[in-house]
Amino acid sequence: MSASLPRPRVGVWLIGARGSVATTVVTGCAAVTAGLHPPTGMVTETPAFTDSRLPALSDLVFGGHDTLDCPLPKRAETLTAGGVLPPGIATAVAAELAAADREIRPGGPTPGDTRSEADLITAFADDIRDFTRRHALERTVVVNVASTEPASQGPGAPLPASTLYALAALRAGCPYVNFTPSEGLHHPVAAREAEHSGLPHAGRDGKTGQTLLRAVLGPMFAQRALHVRAWSGTNLLGGGDGAALADPAAAAAKNAGKERVLADTLGQVPEGEVHIDDVPALGDWKTAWDHIAFDGFLGTRMILQTIWQGCDSALAAPLVLDLARLTARAHEAGLSGPLGALGFYFKDPVGDGPAGLSEQYEELVRFGRELGRPGRGGGRDTGSGERAETPGEAQ
Ligand SMILES: NC(=O)c1ccc[n+]([C@@H]2O[C@H](COP(=O)([O-])OP(=O)(O)OC[C@H]3O[C@@H](n4cnc5c(N)ncnc54)[C@H](O)[C@@H]3O)[C@@H](O)[C@H]2O)c1
Repeated sequence: MSASLPRPRVGVWLIGARGSVATTVVTGCAAVTAGLHPPTGMVTETPAFTDSRLPALSDLVFGGHDTLDCPLPKRAETLTAGGVLPPGIATAVAAELAAADREIRPGGPTPGDTRSEADLITAFADDIRDFTRRHALERTVVVNVASTEPASQGPGAPLPASTLYALAALRAGCPYVNFTPSEGLHHPVAAREAEHSGLPHAGRDGKTGQTLLRAVLGPMFAQRALHVRAWSGTNLLGGGDGAALADPAAAAAKNAGKERVLADTLGQVPEGEVHIDDVPALGDWKTAWDHIAFDGFLGTRMILQTIWQGCDSALAAPLVLDLARLTARAHEAGLSGPLGALGFYFKDPVGDGPAGLSEQYEELVRFGRELGRPGRGGGRDTGSGERAETPGEAQ
């Protein structure tokens, strides 16, 4: 009688592991695995990805870094009180929250931290390696869901924390996903290292609400040959993200991604700006209002207005799970470099793939098919350092 081998498990190391998005990721993964809720919002759970050989949700093990020490079960309670998590769910998955909480290590740099950048990178990489080894994980994907940082200070400035973590991920041999607008691997120092690492990476800034809608409406105006004169947007948001984005430098990093989708889909940058207002009373609930002024036939002036009211973490968490599974599988399949086919998920995607959501979805589905292809099986079969193939190139 042959004993069946234990299923390989995959680590998901969350930078910002005690935040709203991270807590919703851990809670949601456990709830869906236990059959308490359907996987609504998870694209990787749809039939198009059945054969992509993605790691199962039940095989994901969570850990991470944070600079706060609020226990995850307590964080989940707060999110329940705010209506982000349904009542009872945090209690039902208390064991999984406690297990992930035990795997959260102190992040940095904290005020007064005397460690050098090299020391911090080494400490972070050691934490990730230790987690991977203790749980006998096949691989660990590092996902940045920490507070948005102000845009870079330029040459000679200290490396942003997101870049220290991204370098630690490479050092620990881990694929990396940047779900935030922070620099991460975009920093020139890290970009060079990423190129030589032979690891896949994806980013940046999850596309969950206003920009998701822009990626649908932008192509509509372009395809109908309607001239967009101005596109203005305002966001009202509370929670930790609202507080971080109250800093104009952090908001600038976020808004650059929101505006890029218009330039890419319309082929021109219309007049108008995006504003983000911190409204603490709204908590994790966001209202995004877009006002689009456009010209029709014979210059007739018209207006489209959209109002998106969403729960930010509930929109983001399924995407983080999708990205962790797809990036883990890409690593297993031997892909490396920027995963342009994941542009579907991001405001400011790497590479020069399509900007419209429909084309991005088609590219993602092709990518999922490629991941499931025989010969793209477990183990690296294409050699490290190979550029990640776009689905069109993959044969
Ligand atoms: N719809 C969405 O929710 C959405 C969409 C796109 C991007 N994002 C991005 O995801 C990120 C997380 O959002 P959130 O709502 O969970 O925010 P949050 O404020 O609830 O959580 C952020 C966490 O990061 C931690 N952190 C800050 N600096 C750190 C450091 N140096 N090291 C380790 N941890 C650190 C904080 O302590 C906090 O626990 C933000 O950058 C946000 O812009 C969210």
